[in-house]
Amino acid sequence: MEPVDLAVTALHGSVGDPALNSMNFLNEVAQHYPDAVSLAAGRPYEEFFDSALLHTHLDRFRRHLAEEVGLDRAGVDRTLLQYGRTKGIVHHLIARHLDVDEGLTVDPESIVVTVGCQEAMFLVLRALRTGPADVLLAVAPTYVGLTGAARLVDLPVHPVAGGPDGVDLTDLRAAVRRARAGGLRPRGCYVMPDFANPSGVSMDTTQRRRLLDLAAEEDVLLIEDNPYGLFPADGTDRRPTLKALDTARRVVYLGSFAKTVLPGARVGYVLADQRVGEADGAVVPLADHLAKIKSMVTVNTSPISQAVIGGALLAHDCSLVAANVRERAAYARNLRHLVDGLTRRFPAGGPVSWTVPAGGFFVVVSVPFAVDDALLHRSAREYGVLWTPMAHFYDAGTPVDALRLSVSAVTPESIDVGLDRLAALVTDTMAAGVTPQCQGSGTVRVP
Ligand SMILES: Cc1ncc(COP(=O)(O)O)c(C=O)c1O
Repeated sequence: MEPVDLAVTALHGSVGDPALNSMNFLNEVAQHYPDAVSLAAGRPYEEFFDSALLHTHLDRFRRHLAEEVGLDRAGVDRTLLQYGRTKGIVHHLIARHLDVDEGLTVDPESIVVTVGCQEAMFLVLRALRTGPADVLLAVAPTYVGLTGAARLVDLPVHPVAGGPDGVDLTDLRAAVRRARAGGLRPRGCYVMPDFANPSGVSMDTTQRRRLLDLAAEEDVLLIEDNPYGLFPADGTDRRPTLKALDTARRVVYLGSFAKTVLPGARVGYVLADQRVGEADGAVVPLADHLAKIKSMVTVNTSPISQAVIGGALLAHDCSLVAANVRERAAYARNLRHLVDGLTRRFPAGGPVSWTVPAGGFFVVVSVPFAVDDALLHRSAREYGVLWTPMAHFYDAGTPVDALRLSVSAVTPESIDVGLDRLAALVTDTMAAGVTPQCQGSGTVRVP
């Protein structure tokens, strides 16, 4: 036995939580099997990266600071190179983007630019969690980054059924009432109305309005996460965000530039226009309080990273729709290719089924056996294909008979190779007999 200096039980409970290990685990598997085709990673396609553009974007943002904001040379340098404004330096450009692309008129002061959307989640949950009675509701299956962030602030996550409409409103109402009847305080409900990760499901506009109505009736905040909304499949129109339909400041909106500009910049934001009444009678946007928390976590988001994002926004008159024409086409093509490929490899009405999302990166494949991390290892080692066990997106630790495929980091050719390998794994696993976990009723069917 190696000598130990600290027991894990002497550390915050989150460090031993599977949710916090999920991303590391999946990255490690990918690193361990570099030759495997990855239908696991929800990363943008790397061929789109162009490091020469970093300088172009930086220069453009510098010109913007000088010519449009009116800073002198020292002011431009200070803005880019010095410690900076906690709420960020590209908030006004993000506000313009929301106007141009989402029809949303927002006060830039309601925006906090964060270190990725991940930090935005943390700030919001930290602010909302006031005591042990607080809970968060989240549509299940849930993005593991949200579950992990909730763990960091000791905020239990209560699942709400997703279903084919993106959120089961009856279940949401019941979950709110059940929590309150038990003396708990639902602080909000986390939703992803557009091409959700991992389910791929979207809400139609009627469902979005109903969700807003229900949130008003039950007096709960909605936390809308929208990293994939700019990637509808062919022939699919984009729908209004919940925030664009929200007339009562009931929605806190989370944004990410990871999929639409560059994940390495690590820039995201939170739009929090909720009015907070202060002890002295003043009223300030929730964003101001989130900024206070941020000032003690990351101080400010790297201004150099923000400048790159700012320059990229300026290059397209702040339209990320315009900036992502090529990306949208490629992801839509891949999604179509993946779904067609599944149809060719697995007979209709058979034991294997899959979702057909209207956009985004993810397809969920349901299989007649439990899918766990051990199977992923075997898939990588013996078949050369990676995917994500859906169990990572549920909190219960129950075996789930489904896996998530992602189309973002691959080509049609590698999708073909990956699907051939996946089909072989599925055929062999089925031939070997149904795994014990699957025989009981404990296995979760997805979606
Ligand atoms: C649903 C969802 N929210 C947030 C994020 C994280 O975004 P960021 O890279 O900006 O932290 C991701 C990344 O995969 C995601 O899928």
